[in-house]
Amino acid sequence: MTAPKKLFIKTYGCQMNVYDSERMAEALGGQGYVETKSADDADMILLNTCHIREKAAEKVYSELGRFKGLKADKPELKIGVAGCVAQAEGEEIMRRQPLVDLVVGPQSYHRLPEMEARTRTGAKALDTDFPEEDKFEKLKNRPKAKRGPTAFLTVQEGCDKFCAFCVVPYTRGAEVSRPADRILSEARDLVERGVREITLLGQNVNAYHGAGADGDMTLAQLIWALDKIDGLERIRFTTSHPNDMGDDLIEAHGACSKLMPYLHLPVQSGSDKILKRMNRSHTAESYLRLIERIRAARPDILMSGDFIVGFPEETEEDFQATMDLVQEVNYGYAYSFKYSTRPGTPAAERAQVDEDVKSERLQRLQALITRQQRAVQDSMVGKEVSVLFEKPGRQAGQMGGKSEYLHAVHVEGTGIGVGDLRRVRITASGTNSLGGELV
Ligand code: SAH
Ligand code: SF4
Ligand code: F3S
Repeated sequence: MTAPKKLFIKTYGCQMNVYDSERMAEALGGQGYVETKSADDADMILLNTCHIREKAAEKVYSELGRFKGLKADKPELKIGVAGCVAQAEGEEIMRRQPLVDLVVGPQSYHRLPEMEARTRTGAKALDTDFPEEDKFEKLKNRPKAKRGPTAFLTVQEGCDKFCAFCVVPYTRGAEVSRPADRILSEARDLVERGVREITLLGQNVNAYHGAGADGDMTLAQLIWALDKIDGLERIRFTTSHPNDMGDDLIEAHGACSKLMPYLHLPVQSGSDKILKRMNRSHTAESYLRLIERIRAARPDILMSGDFIVGFPEETEEDFQATMDLVQEVNYGYAYSFKYSTRPGTPAAERAQVDEDVKSERLQRLQALITRQQRAVQDSMVGKEVSVLFEKPGRQAGQMGGKSEYLHAVHVEGTGIGVGDLRRVRITASGTNSLGGELV
């Protein structure tokens, strides 16, 4: 028997890329590959890339440059680029970096085994199609190995919203929902293998409308179907668009005990003028009213959001409206970015805000967000939460996991196992995590 070939995958970008990397590893597992944690001993290196901001895309080329020496020492080493940069730049990647053997877009992963075989003949392989066939079905040859207590599961992919700053509709393609029965059987399989918490993924996850037994299902209906799976204890989903937050989904937050009280609901800006120019089709006011309704259904829900500062034509007044909105919502988590021009998107053509102004606004926003996050985290002290334990904590004897609100929690670990779900009283709030003791 020949020794297994080694595969090194490096993942950038969003959680869907994490899920995709797992699927790619499984697909190449059928070709005799096992995963390795280091590029140095790999027979194949795959970068699963992100195109969302310029910095993310540029990282890929500097990383590829670093593999030159490895390839010189081991000419049979294959180097591949997958993900959203692969989709956006295609052949250009091989022109810019000739050591790349393979370029595969997010909708073509199921064709990786054939592509890998082609590279073994010394040829280059490129596939950035949006094929008709269901890649998830073709990627089903998963091993039945045990796995950790949390998992991602893609239920919806792509986006039809075309926000003026965003590459996702171009890199992931049109919005597509997977049929419910396939999602449910994948979920059951994960639970059999030890998973207790599933995060449903989609670029526009709450627009989910996959086929069910009696017509299309909403995300809330899918969540209720998952709720019936014994052994599955927690359900999360990300990322949602404010305009697709259906009444049944809001209600589920109050009624479904497995649905965790955490909601990532990006708003991007607090200025209606900017929201309009972003093509977001909601206002600051409609977003705030929506959060009121969500909090009425589930008062303790922890809100999280995304913000872009320095979008074209953003004035100080527009930025102030974003600060005001953040004040009003009181986020438990929020992610903020300087606007980055993306080639091919409408906003790239418009009058840009000065880089210095962007940086200064980002600093002010992040200072506010950090204070808010910290205050929300500190307010957990004295409360009882449930923690799903995932791994040993940083200090000896500790176990770490996540609360229902997605806060990291560590506890002195006597008798706690990975995958245990336990009640914990929070006793301390540190920089990035909470400390507690078993109840
Ligand atoms: N709706 C998607 C958003 C993906 S991008 C999802 O569901 O995951 C994640 C975040 O990146 C966006 O919410 C936005 O805040 C930010 N982003 C997207 N394009 C950007 C750009 N051109 N410049 C800066 N930030 C951007
Ligand atoms: Fe991008 Fe907007 Fe679609 Fe989110 S909703 S993926 S930000 S276009
Ligand atoms: Fe990045 Fe593509 Fe995800 S651009 S954020 S990896 S959908």
